Amino acid sequence: MKNRFKIPYTAFKDNQKSFRKELINVFTKTLDSGRYIAGPELDKFEKEFAKYCEVKKATGVANGTCALHLTIKDFNLTSEDEVITAPNSFFSSASSIELGGAKIIFADVNDDLNINPDEIEKRITKRTKMIMPVHLTGRPAKMKRITEIAKKHNLIVLEDAAQSVGAKYFGKKVGSLGDVATFSLHPLKNLHAYGDAGILVSNNEKLVNNLKIRKNHGLSKRDRCEYWSYNCRLDELQAALLRVQLKNLDKQIKKKRKLAQILNEELNEIVNVPFENEGEFHVYQTYVIQSEARDKLKEYLISKGIEAFIHYPVPLHLQPAAKDLNYSANEFPKTMELSSKILSLPLYPSMKEDKLEYLIKTFKKFFK
Ligand SMILES: Cc1ncc(COP(=O)(O)O)c(C=O)c1O
Repeated sequence: MKNRFKIPYTAFKDNQKSFRKELINVFTKTLDSGRYIAGPELDKFEKEFAKYCEVKKATGVANGTCALHLTIKDFNLTSEDEVITAPNSFFSSASSIELGGAKIIFADVNDDLNINPDEIEKRITKRTKMIMPVHLTGRPAKMKRITEIAKKHNLIVLEDAAQSVGAKYFGKKVGSLGDVATFSLHPLKNLHAYGDAGILVSNNEKLVNNLKIRKNHGLSKRDRCEYWSYNCRLDELQAALLRVQLKNLDKQIKKKRKLAQILNEELNEIVNVPFENEGEFHVYQTYVIQSEARDKLKEYLISKGIEAFIHYPVPLHLQPAAKDLNYSANEFPKTMELSSKILSLPLYPSMKEDKLEYLIKTFKKFFK
């Protein structure tokens, strides 16, 4: 299908070019195997992913939302217990807390779009049980401070690493920085399935073993149900395709980082660009700039054939679903400011030089 954009936001077919044959091979092999649920491909993918994240154990699930929801549920929190997260994230960061049985507490973010540790500290009460930093856009949150705060107050740290597979903080992979971490493997992520998928990881093997039960109807054995639960399994076909993706992930990240660095240099004088802070290894799942002229800029780029999005235009605390939390619009000033300035530009591993040049040229033309 022909895309109406000169530079579309995604380019799946081009990104897959170098490993397309392998994808088709494993697809056929899995199809022929007759094993579609809980087979060897899933087992291997889980082991390989845990190794990639530098943790002991992983278990694949149906999507990133299930990963978050089931993990929180496993800590047996009650509606009196509070979990602190960022208000500028995807819906699941908040919904999983409430669906997991606890109370959502938001804390404002920094210019880097990630949760501000000082704001976390301000929101801690006797009821706080968990901190859920979101590594938004592919950039790690301030995990040194966050884990120090957690230690001081005896809190669990659950990393919502949905957008950040491969990112590092002072040399350590996201997913290995807290007590447990969850990932989305949705098609828009740097490591993605061909449909919905997710995975969770931890050095706490007992926790991952419990979650293996929780994602599979609460079954500890084939005919023994410990508690009523969901079916949130990751299937064999997606696991097989994901193993091919995982082999190519670092190469894809390298390409994205190179393109992002060119954009950073070129656009730095006109807008706020996502330069890395000390210790950060950003994987640019989303390339987000900040500009006062965001709305007009977005319109202009689209009129010139460049697809751009806003992630996210309405913060979580202002969603109808959050009305019972009683937050006012001005409670999180940085989040509000960012929601009017942020713009996600197209950036994919297979983006060719001429496209990048066109993007930069068009961008600069607008500001002239
Ligand atoms: C920060 C964050 N958390 C959680 C999720 C949920 O993941 P999924 O879409 O796989 O359910 C996403 C998905 O985009 C996300 O960006």
